[in-house]
Amino acid sequence: MPAIDIPRLHPETIEAVRERADIVDIVSEHVVLKKQGKDFVGLCPFHDDKSPSFSVSPSKQFYYCFSCGAGGNTFKFLMELGKRPFADVVLDLARRYQVSVRTLEPAKRQELQRQLSLREQLYEIVAVTAKFYEHALRQSDGQTAMTYLKTSRHLKEETIQRFQLGYSPGGWQTLYGYLVEQKRYPVELVEKAGLIVPRQASSGYYDRFRDRLMIPIHDIQGRVIGFGGRTLMDERPKYLNSPDTELFDKGKALFGLNQAKAAIAKQDRAVVVEGYFDVIALHAAGIANAVAALGTALNAAQVRQLLRYTDSKQVVLNFDADAAGVKAAARAIGEVTEMAYRGDIQLRVLNLPEGKDADDYLQNHIAEEYQALLEAAPLWLDWQIQQILEPCNLKQADQFQQGTQAVVKLLSDIANADTRTHYVRHCAEIFSQGDARLVPLLAENLLAQVRRKRRSPSERKPTLPSHPWAANSLEQAESALLRIYLHAADYRQAVVDALEERDLQFSFSHHRALWRQMTELASSATMAGDQAVNTTQQPMVSDWVEPSDGSSTKASSLVARLRDRCTESSDPISQVLHLLHLQEKTQRDILRAPLVIRAAVACMEKALCEKRYRYFLNLWAETDCAASPERHTYYQQQVYAEKKRIEELEQQRQVDFVDLAQIPWVGEFYDSLETT
Ligand code: UTP
Ligand code: MN
Repeated sequence: MPAIDIPRLHPETIEAVRERADIVDIVSEHVVLKKQGKDFVGLCPFHDDKSPSFSVSPSKQFYYCFSCGAGGNTFKFLMELGKRPFADVVLDLARRYQVSVRTLEPAKRQELQRQLSLREQLYEIVAVTAKFYEHALRQSDGQTAMTYLKTSRHLKEETIQRFQLGYSPGGWQTLYGYLVEQKRYPVELVEKAGLIVPRQASSGYYDRFRDRLMIPIHDIQGRVIGFGGRTLMDERPKYLNSPDTELFDKGKALFGLNQAKAAIAKQDRAVVVEGYFDVIALHAAGIANAVAALGTALNAAQVRQLLRYTDSKQVVLNFDADAAGVKAAARAIGEVTEMAYRGDIQLRVLNLPEGKDADDYLQNHIAEEYQALLEAAPLWLDWQIQQILEPCNLKQADQFQQGTQAVVKLLSDIANADTRTHYVRHCAEIFSQGDARLVPLLAENLLAQVRRKRRSPSERKPTLPSHPWAANSLEQAESALLRIYLHAADYRQAVVDALEERDLQFSFSHHRALWRQMTELASSATMAGDQAVNTTQQPMVSDWVEPSDGSSTKASSLVARLRDRCTESSDPISQVLHLLHLQEKTQRDILRAPLVIRAAVACMEKALCEKRYRYFLNLWAETDCAASPERHTYYQQQVYAEKKRIEELEQQRQVDFVDLAQIPWVGEFYDSLETT
């Protein structure tokens, strides 16, 4: 369905909403605030705050976090918190504070009103229907369905209510009679809502859902938009779903997202399962970050929707471990392969033992066991390698070769050189079949094939980044800084200073976690061993060709301690373990630490400026010049200031690389980037 094109809101409407919506009221619905002087303080909802650094000023109608730098007015707060667009936030508040909505063009406005009222009516009909089904579940007709939920599905009353589960009675016109005859809803609208179906042979309509257990599907704001109906009698189809309607788009909706979004944000991870009951069972067990696609393959748009809620972009696919489930996982991976190769999504795949789905599994396992499996779920590349190599008998030459070819194809698309090297090493270990002496040789061989594949233009993806930090640059800039801190004790202070000077924070939660641990470790003990790392001498042999016994004398004690810590606990640090190892390319970053620090910090600040730039641009566009000229000018100035700074930073980020190209080995380094 086409989304409604919301016309520009009239500035007076925005102003009226701004006047009525008090920032302290709005913020305190989400943050516990305490009065302090004339302001209020609390824990910042935008980062992992330990002590209250978030302050709200009623006089300025502004919030600001002294720790992470988040700040803005009421609109910005709701936009950032709910990841919602400006107009959406304003319209919501307008409804809440009963401000009448005016748009800029009256003609468009009428059209909007018409569409809105159609949609509003559909929402109402579907909501009334959901209530009707809920009620029916509690009547004598609904007994079988209720028993099924409680006895076969082991659901508690609380869960049944939380998901608003219901029952569609068995007659042909029960819902029809209620909605059309009793409640007098126009029959065309009830049909448009997907609830009744016109008869083919005669005139009239019949109920789409009859004698089924009804599961309402909600949109992100929690409004019911459609239903899934499960048979109680082993009929086909097992699940009958609402057709696509003005409100319901199967390819976009995700079952359970409205209930899961807070938990996804909190745990910084989303779990995607196959079925309605998998979501319900997981939520009932306290694992509330789970959603399901609606009987269709999970697509990229749905994944992107999930990614809005997780900063570090973690998604676990937990599909059934049967052949169909494995196929579904492979297809879902196919949908987001490019994102995954770029590192824009941290995708993992969980297959439960004995081919169970999450719901089956939880019938005789506790939530902690499931959680542990989630933690241990392999990254999608590991999973794919496993899928490729498990059926291969590597002792047989032909299968060995087939396996190698498939793996080379898989690995050559990885954009990040570190990740690629990691996997080459990993596959070499598998191919060595336990003979450690073979690993370096096999790795070299694989790497050569991967290089060849990447170099051959016909095979190559057109959009490979040639600039070191062109793709996913913020992630890479942050990684580079962390690596310097980890491996070059001499530059630790420089990293700290550079961040403090510009008041910067790591933006990925796994980076923040590592930073916290490192700074803790570095300050809690004298890192005597670190002084052994001499950053001005020859680079160390790259880690993956180095025998493991020799590395311990060279590795800094900080690295060693972190490694110990990671084996102890399954914390987010496990995601950044690759930073503990240096490879050829990253080794060189260490050697030119001052330049890399400058470029990385410029990159981080640039990301922040871009955020502010978009923010002020939005405000500027929404401010009426005639009504509030000072504000209009102020926003405009901010926009220009940010833009100028962004350009400066962009230069700082690049100049360093140009200068560096003068140094002979850096030239080589650039050449290698072309091919690796
Ligand atoms: P499954 O067939 O794996 O069922 O379908 P399930 O979720 O384990 O169902 P139970 O446990 O037997 O009740 C997975 C999902 O695929 C969609 C539904 O969303 C279902 O939850 N589906 C399945 C349909 O839409 N229609 C169908 O006929 C079957
Ligand atoms: Mn099931």
